[in-house]
Amino acid sequence: MEGKEGRFRRNSRESRLSRRQKLVLAAVAAVVIIVAILGLGLGLGLRNRYGGEDDAEPTLPPAPQPTAVWQPAVNTSWQIILNSKLDIDPNNPAVEPDVEVYDIDMFVHQNTRVIESLHKLGKKVICYFSAGSYEPNRPDSSRFPKEDIGSVLDGWPDEKWINISSPAIRDIMAGRIDIASRMGCDAVDPDNVDGFQNENGLNLTPRDSVDFMTFLADESHKRKMAIGLKNAGDIVKTILPRMQFAVNEECAEFKACKIFSPFVEAGKPVFHIEYPDGAPFDTDEGQKEEYCNAPGAQGFSTILKAMNLNFGAEYCDGRQVRTKVFR
Ligand SMILES: *[C@@H]1O[C@H](CO)[C@@H](O)[C@H](O)[C@H]1NC(C)=O
Ligand SMILES: *[C@@H]1O[C@H](CO)[C@@H](O)[C@H](O)[C@H]1NC(C)=O
Repeated sequence: MEGKEGRFRRNSRESRLSRRQKLVLAAVAAVVIIVAILGLGLGLGLRNRYGGEDDAEPTLPPAPQPTAVWQPAVNTSWQIILNSKLDIDPNNPAVEPDVEVYDIDMFVHQNTRVIESLHKLGKKVICYFSAGSYEPNRPDSSRFPKEDIGSVLDGWPDEKWINISSPAIRDIMAGRIDIASRMGCDAVDPDNVDGFQNENGLNLTPRDSVDFMTFLADESHKRKMAIGLKNAGDIVKTILPRMQFAVNEECAEFKACKIFSPFVEAGKPVFHIEYPDGAPFDTDEGQKEEYCNAPGAQGFSTILKAMNLNFGAEYCDGRQVRTKVFR
Protein backbone atom coordinates (compact mmCIF):
# COMPACT_ATOMS: atom_id res chain seq x y z
CA MET A 1 0.00 0.00 0.00
CA GLU A 2 2.98 2.26 0.41
CA GLY A 3 3.25 2.91 -3.31
CA LYS A 4 -0.35 3.82 -3.61
CA GLU A 5 -0.17 6.21 -0.68
CA GLY A 6 2.95 7.76 -2.11
CA ARG A 7 1.24 8.40 -5.42
CA PHE A 8 -1.70 10.05 -3.70
CA ARG A 9 0.59 12.19 -1.63
CA ARG A 10 2.47 13.43 -4.67
CA ASN A 11 -0.79 14.17 -6.46
CA SER A 12 -2.12 16.20 -3.59
CA ARG A 13 1.15 18.12 -3.33
CA GLU A 14 1.08 18.90 -7.07
CA SER A 15 -2.42 20.27 -6.75
CA ARG A 16 -1.18 22.69 -4.13
CA LEU A 17 1.71 24.04 -6.25
CA SER A 18 1.60 27.77 -6.77
CA ARG A 19 1.74 29.28 -10.25
CA ARG A 20 5.27 30.45 -9.52
CA GLN A 21 6.42 26.97 -8.45
CA LYS A 22 4.96 25.58 -11.67
CA LEU A 23 6.95 28.10 -13.72
CA VAL A 24 10.13 27.12 -11.89
CA LEU A 25 9.44 23.42 -12.52
CA ALA A 26 8.78 24.13 -16.23
CA ALA A 27 12.09 26.00 -16.49
CA VAL A 28 13.96 23.12 -14.82
CA ALA A 29 12.32 20.63 -17.21
CA ALA A 30 13.31 22.77 -20.21
CA VAL A 31 16.94 22.86 -19.04
CA VAL A 32 16.95 19.06 -18.58
CA ILE A 33 15.61 18.54 -22.12
CA ILE A 34 18.17 20.93 -23.66
CA VAL A 35 21.03 19.20 -21.82
CA ALA A 36 19.73 15.82 -23.03
CA ILE A 37 19.62 17.05 -26.65
CA LEU A 38 23.12 18.51 -26.42
CA GLY A 39 24.38 15.26 -24.91
CA LEU A 40 22.85 13.25 -27.75
CA GLY A 41 24.37 15.61 -30.32
CA LEU A 42 27.78 15.26 -28.70
CA GLY A 43 27.42 11.48 -28.67
CA LEU A 44 26.58 11.42 -32.37
CA GLY A 45 29.43 13.82 -33.07
CA LEU A 46 31.86 11.50 -31.33
CA ARG A 47 30.49 8.53 -33.21
CA ASN A 48 30.89 10.42 -36.48
CA ARG A 49 34.59 10.50 -35.85
CA TYR A 50 34.67 6.70 -35.93
CA GLY A 51 37.00 5.66 -38.70
CA GLY A 52 40.29 6.57 -37.07
CA GLU A 53 42.57 4.14 -35.31
CA ASP A 54 39.87 2.79 -32.99
CA ASP A 55 38.38 -0.06 -34.97
CA ALA A 56 35.42 -0.69 -32.69
CA GLU A 57 32.24 -0.56 -34.72
CA PRO A 58 29.61 2.10 -34.08
CA THR A 59 26.47 0.81 -32.39
CA LEU A 60 22.83 1.12 -33.37
CA PRO A 61 19.75 0.64 -31.23
CA PRO A 62 18.21 -2.78 -31.90
CA ALA A 63 15.67 -2.87 -34.71
CA PRO A 64 12.77 -5.29 -34.72
CA GLN A 65 13.05 -7.85 -37.51
CA PRO A 66 10.56 -6.66 -40.11
CA THR A 67 7.61 -8.96 -40.64
CA ALA A 68 6.25 -9.73 -44.10
CA VAL A 69 9.73 -9.32 -45.53
CA TRP A 70 11.35 -12.31 -47.19
CA GLN A 71 14.07 -13.93 -45.07
CA PRO A 72 16.14 -16.29 -47.22
CA ALA A 73 17.73 -19.29 -45.50
CA VAL A 74 21.43 -19.98 -45.09
CA ASN A 75 22.85 -21.91 -48.10
CA THR A 76 20.17 -20.62 -50.48
CA SER A 77 21.21 -21.42 -54.06
CA TRP A 78 21.51 -18.57 -56.55
CA GLN A 79 22.69 -17.13 -59.83
CA ILE A 80 23.76 -13.51 -60.43
CA ILE A 81 23.77 -11.82 -63.84
CA LEU A 82 24.41 -8.09 -64.03
CA ASN A 83 25.66 -7.49 -67.56
CA SER A 84 22.66 -8.61 -69.58
CA LYS A 85 18.94 -9.27 -69.69
CA LEU A 86 17.55 -12.73 -68.99
CA ASP A 87 15.81 -14.29 -71.97
CA ILE A 88 12.70 -16.03 -70.62
CA ASP A 89 9.62 -16.69 -72.72
CA PRO A 90 6.77 -15.31 -70.58
CA ASN A 91 4.30 -17.70 -72.20
CA ASN A 92 6.35 -20.76 -71.42
CA PRO A 93 8.73 -19.75 -68.65
CA ALA A 94 11.83 -21.83 -68.01
CA VAL A 95 15.24 -20.91 -66.67
CA GLU A 96 18.57 -22.59 -66.10
CA PRO A 97 20.00 -23.12 -63.49
CA ASP A 98 17.12 -24.23 -61.27
CA VAL A 99 18.29 -22.23 -58.25
CA GLU A 100 16.17 -20.54 -55.60
CA VAL A 101 17.29 -16.95 -56.18
CA TYR A 102 18.22 -14.74 -59.14
CA ASP A 103 20.12 -11.49 -58.54
CA ILE A 104 19.64 -9.30 -61.63
CA ASP A 105 20.30 -5.70 -62.68
CA MET A 106 17.19 -3.69 -61.95
CA PHE A 107 17.54 -1.12 -64.72
CA VAL A 108 18.33 -3.71 -67.39
CA HIS A 109 15.10 -5.52 -66.52
CA GLN A 110 12.76 -2.56 -66.26
CA ASN A 111 9.65 -2.91 -68.41
CA THR A 112 10.20 -6.62 -68.99
CA ARG A 113 8.27 -9.57 -67.63
CA VAL A 114 11.34 -11.42 -66.41
CA ILE A 115 10.51 -11.03 -62.72
CA GLU A 116 6.96 -12.23 -63.27
CA SER A 117 8.32 -15.27 -65.09
CA LEU A 118 10.85 -16.02 -62.36
CA HIS A 119 8.07 -15.81 -59.79
CA LYS A 120 5.97 -18.25 -61.83
CA LEU A 121 8.92 -20.61 -61.60
CA GLY A 122 8.93 -20.26 -57.82
CA LYS A 123 12.12 -18.19 -57.70
CA LYS A 124 12.84 -15.13 -55.61
CA VAL A 125 14.35 -12.07 -57.27
CA ILE A 126 16.97 -9.73 -55.85
CA CYS A 127 17.23 -6.46 -57.76
CA TYR A 128 20.69 -4.96 -58.07
CA PHE A 129 21.41 -1.27 -58.43
CA SER A 130 24.28 0.97 -57.47
CA ALA A 131 23.36 2.98 -54.36
CA GLY A 132 26.72 4.56 -53.66
CA SER A 133 28.02 5.53 -57.07
CA TYR A 134 27.09 7.76 -59.97
CA GLU A 135 26.82 5.97 -63.32
CA PRO A 136 26.32 8.06 -66.47
CA ASN A 137 23.70 6.03 -68.33
CA ARG A 138 20.95 5.27 -65.86
CA PRO A 139 17.45 6.77 -66.39
CA ASP A 140 17.90 9.06 -63.36
CA SER A 141 21.55 10.04 -63.91
CA SER A 142 20.71 13.69 -64.63
CA ARG A 143 19.30 14.06 -61.11
CA PHE A 144 22.69 13.65 -59.35
CA PRO A 145 23.92 17.05 -58.06
CA LYS A 146 27.50 17.82 -59.13
CA GLU A 147 28.53 18.70 -55.59
CA ASP A 148 27.56 15.20 -54.41
CA ILE A 149 29.93 13.45 -56.85
CA GLY A 150 33.40 12.40 -55.72
CA SER A 151 36.32 10.33 -57.04
CA VAL A 152 36.27 7.70 -59.77
CA LEU A 153 35.86 4.09 -58.59
CA ASP A 154 39.11 2.19 -58.89
CA GLY A 155 38.76 -0.08 -61.93
CA TRP A 156 35.42 1.41 -63.09
CA PRO A 157 36.33 4.62 -64.99
CA ASP A 158 32.69 5.62 -65.66
CA GLU A 159 31.58 5.37 -62.04
CA LYS A 160 32.11 7.90 -59.25
CA TRP A 161 31.56 7.72 -55.50
CA ILE A 162 28.71 9.88 -54.24
CA ASN A 163 27.82 11.61 -50.99
CA ILE A 164 25.50 9.03 -49.44
CA SER A 165 24.55 11.50 -46.68
CA SER A 166 23.16 14.06 -49.11
CA PRO A 167 19.35 14.42 -49.05
CA ALA A 168 19.28 14.69 -52.87
CA ILE A 169 21.15 11.38 -53.22
CA ARG A 170 18.89 9.70 -50.67
CA ASP A 171 15.87 10.90 -52.59
CA ILE A 172 17.25 9.34 -55.79
CA MET A 173 17.93 6.05 -53.99
CA ALA A 174 14.47 5.97 -52.40
CA GLY A 175 13.20 6.41 -55.97
CA ARG A 176 15.25 3.42 -57.10
CA ILE A 177 13.86 1.31 -54.26
CA ASP A 178 10.41 2.38 -55.33
CA ILE A 179 11.11 1.20 -58.89
CA ALA A 180 12.26 -2.16 -57.48
CA SER A 181 9.05 -2.41 -55.49
CA ARG A 182 6.86 -1.64 -58.51
CA MET A 183 8.78 -4.23 -60.54
CA GLY A 184 7.89 -6.87 -57.95
CA CYS A 185 11.43 -7.49 -56.67
CA ASP A 186 11.58 -9.53 -53.46
CA ALA A 187 14.75 -7.79 -52.30
CA VAL A 188 17.32 -5.19 -53.25
CA ASP A 189 21.09 -5.50 -53.57
CA PRO A 190 22.37 -1.93 -53.25
CA ASP A 191 26.00 -1.86 -54.37
CA ASN A 192 28.93 0.42 -53.55
CA VAL A 193 28.01 1.17 -49.96
CA ASP A 194 31.64 0.78 -48.87
CA GLY A 195 32.97 4.11 -50.10
CA PHE A 196 34.68 4.62 -46.72
CA GLN A 197 36.93 1.65 -47.50
CA ASN A 198 38.05 3.32 -50.75
CA GLU A 199 39.58 6.58 -51.98
CA ASN A 200 36.26 8.41 -52.40
CA GLY A 201 37.06 12.14 -52.39
CA LEU A 202 34.15 12.89 -50.04
CA ASN A 203 35.55 11.93 -46.61
CA LEU A 204 32.98 9.15 -46.28
CA THR A 205 33.05 7.35 -42.91
CA PRO A 206 31.78 3.96 -41.70
CA ARG A 207 29.14 5.85 -39.75
CA ASP A 208 27.91 7.38 -43.03
CA SER A 209 27.50 3.88 -44.47
CA VAL A 210 25.68 2.61 -41.37
CA ASP A 211 23.28 5.57 -41.55
CA PHE A 212 22.82 5.08 -45.29
CA MET A 213 22.17 1.33 -44.98
CA THR A 214 19.68 2.04 -42.19
CA PHE A 215 17.92 4.47 -44.52
CA LEU A 216 17.90 1.99 -47.42
CA ALA A 217 16.67 -0.80 -45.12
CA ASP A 218 13.80 1.33 -43.84
CA GLU A 219 12.81 2.29 -47.40
CA SER A 220 12.96 -1.36 -48.52
CA HIS A 221 11.14 -2.82 -45.53
CA LYS A 222 8.39 -0.20 -45.85
CA ARG A 223 7.76 -1.66 -49.30
CA LYS A 224 7.92 -5.24 -48.00
CA MET A 225 11.26 -5.96 -49.64
CA ALA A 226 14.32 -7.54 -48.07
CA ILE A 227 17.78 -5.96 -48.34
CA GLY A 228 21.35 -7.22 -48.26
CA LEU A 229 24.68 -5.72 -47.27
CA LYS A 230 27.10 -5.68 -50.22
CA ASN A 231 30.72 -6.13 -49.09
CA ALA A 232 31.46 -3.37 -46.47
CA GLY A 233 32.93 -5.83 -43.97
CA ASP A 234 33.71 -3.10 -41.42
CA ILE A 235 30.03 -2.51 -40.64
CA VAL A 236 28.79 -6.12 -40.60
CA LYS A 237 28.20 -6.38 -36.87
CA THR A 238 26.43 -3.04 -36.63
CA ILE A 239 24.10 -3.40 -39.57
CA LEU A 240 23.44 -7.16 -39.45
CA PRO A 241 20.19 -6.88 -37.42
CA ARG A 242 18.67 -4.75 -40.17
CA MET A 243 19.79 -6.95 -43.08
CA GLN A 244 18.27 -10.17 -44.41
CA PHE A 245 21.43 -11.35 -46.22
CA ALA A 246 24.88 -10.34 -47.40
CA VAL A 247 26.31 -10.28 -50.90
CA ASN A 248 30.06 -10.62 -50.87
CA GLU A 249 32.73 -10.46 -53.52
CA GLU A 250 36.11 -12.09 -53.03
CA CYS A 251 36.24 -12.60 -49.27
CA ALA A 252 38.15 -15.83 -49.94
CA GLU A 253 40.64 -14.08 -52.23
CA PHE A 254 41.24 -11.51 -49.50
CA LYS A 255 41.14 -14.10 -46.68
CA ALA A 256 38.31 -12.21 -44.96
CA CYS A 257 35.32 -14.57 -45.05
CA LYS A 258 35.22 -14.77 -41.23
CA ILE A 259 34.12 -11.12 -41.21
CA PHE A 260 30.87 -12.14 -42.93
CA SER A 261 30.20 -15.38 -41.03
CA PRO A 262 28.06 -13.56 -38.38
CA PHE A 263 25.36 -13.55 -41.06
CA VAL A 264 25.36 -17.35 -41.20
CA GLU A 265 25.42 -17.53 -37.40
CA ALA A 266 22.31 -15.30 -37.42
CA GLY A 267 20.55 -17.65 -39.88
CA LYS A 268 21.03 -15.31 -42.87
CA PRO A 269 22.71 -16.33 -46.12
CA VAL A 270 25.92 -14.92 -47.56
CA PHE A 271 25.67 -14.84 -51.34
CA HIS A 272 29.37 -15.21 -52.08
CA ILE A 273 31.08 -14.56 -55.43
CA GLU A 274 34.68 -15.43 -56.29
CA TYR A 275 36.44 -14.72 -59.55
CA PRO A 276 39.01 -17.50 -60.05
CA ASP A 277 41.14 -17.53 -63.20
CA GLY A 278 39.27 -19.08 -66.12
CA ALA A 279 35.89 -19.10 -64.36
CA PRO A 280 33.30 -20.24 -65.04
CA PHE A 281 34.07 -22.78 -67.79
CA ASP A 282 37.81 -23.29 -67.43
CA THR A 283 38.30 -22.58 -63.75
CA ASP A 284 41.74 -22.92 -62.19
CA GLU A 285 41.25 -26.02 -60.01
CA GLY A 286 43.65 -24.91 -57.30
CA GLN A 287 41.92 -21.56 -56.86
CA LYS A 288 38.52 -23.23 -56.94
CA GLU A 289 39.58 -25.59 -54.16
CA GLU A 290 40.92 -22.68 -52.11
CA TYR A 291 37.89 -20.40 -52.61
CA CYS A 292 35.29 -23.11 -52.03
CA ASN A 293 36.91 -24.18 -48.76
CA ALA A 294 37.93 -20.75 -47.49
CA PRO A 295 38.14 -20.44 -43.69
CA GLY A 296 35.00 -18.73 -42.38
CA ALA A 297 32.99 -19.42 -45.56
CA GLN A 298 31.15 -22.52 -44.28
CA GLY A 299 27.48 -22.19 -45.15
CA PHE A 300 28.07 -19.45 -47.74
CA SER A 301 26.23 -19.68 -51.08
CA THR A 302 29.40 -19.66 -53.16
CA ILE A 303 29.39 -19.06 -56.92
CA LEU A 304 32.36 -18.83 -59.28
CA LYS A 305 31.99 -16.21 -61.98
CA ALA A 306 33.79 -14.08 -64.54
CA MET A 307 34.32 -10.48 -63.36
CA ASN A 308 31.69 -9.14 -65.78
CA LEU A 309 29.00 -11.20 -64.00
CA ASN A 310 27.65 -12.64 -67.25
CA PHE A 311 25.41 -15.63 -68.03
CA GLY A 312 27.92 -18.29 -66.93
CA ALA A 313 28.54 -19.73 -63.49
CA GLU A 314 30.26 -22.63 -61.80
CA TYR A 315 29.35 -23.97 -58.35
CA CYS A 316 31.64 -25.62 -55.84
CA ASP A 317 30.24 -29.06 -56.71
CA GLY A 318 31.66 -28.58 -60.22
CA ARG A 319 28.34 -27.90 -61.91
CA GLN A 320 28.68 -25.37 -64.74
CA VAL A 321 25.66 -23.46 -65.98
CA ARG A 322 24.69 -21.13 -68.83
CA THR A 323 21.66 -18.93 -68.31
CA LYS A 324 19.90 -17.81 -71.49
CA VAL A 325 20.29 -14.05 -71.95
CA PHE A 326 19.75 -11.54 -74.75
CA ARG A 327 23.07 -10.85 -76.49
C1 LIG B 1 23.54 -26.51 -49.43
O1 LIG B 1 22.80 -26.52 -50.64
C2 LIG B 1 23.21 -27.47 -51.60
C3 LIG B 1 22.32 -27.32 -52.81
O2 LIG B 1 22.36 -26.03 -53.31
C4 LIG B 1 23.12 -28.87 -51.04
O3 LIG B 1 23.64 -29.78 -51.97
C5 LIG B 1 23.90 -28.95 -49.74
O4 LIG B 1 23.67 -30.20 -49.16
C6 LIG B 1 23.44 -27.85 -48.77
N1 LIG B 1 24.29 -27.87 -47.60
C7 LIG B 1 23.78 -27.86 -46.39
C8 LIG B 1 24.79 -27.92 -45.28
O5 LIG B 1 22.59 -27.82 -46.18
C1 LIG C 1 27.57 15.39 -47.76
O1 LIG C 1 26.23 15.73 -47.45
C2 LIG C 1 26.05 16.13 -46.10
C3 LIG C 1 24.55 16.32 -45.88
O2 LIG C 1 24.05 17.23 -46.80
C4 LIG C 1 26.87 17.37 -45.82
O3 LIG C 1 26.73 17.73 -44.48
C5 LIG C 1 28.32 17.08 -46.14
O4 LIG C 1 29.08 18.26 -45.99
C6 LIG C 1 28.48 16.57 -47.56
N1 LIG C 1 29.86 16.19 -47.78
C7 LIG C 1 30.61 16.71 -48.76
C8 LIG C 1 32.01 16.20 -48.84
O5 LIG C 1 30.18 17.53 -49.53
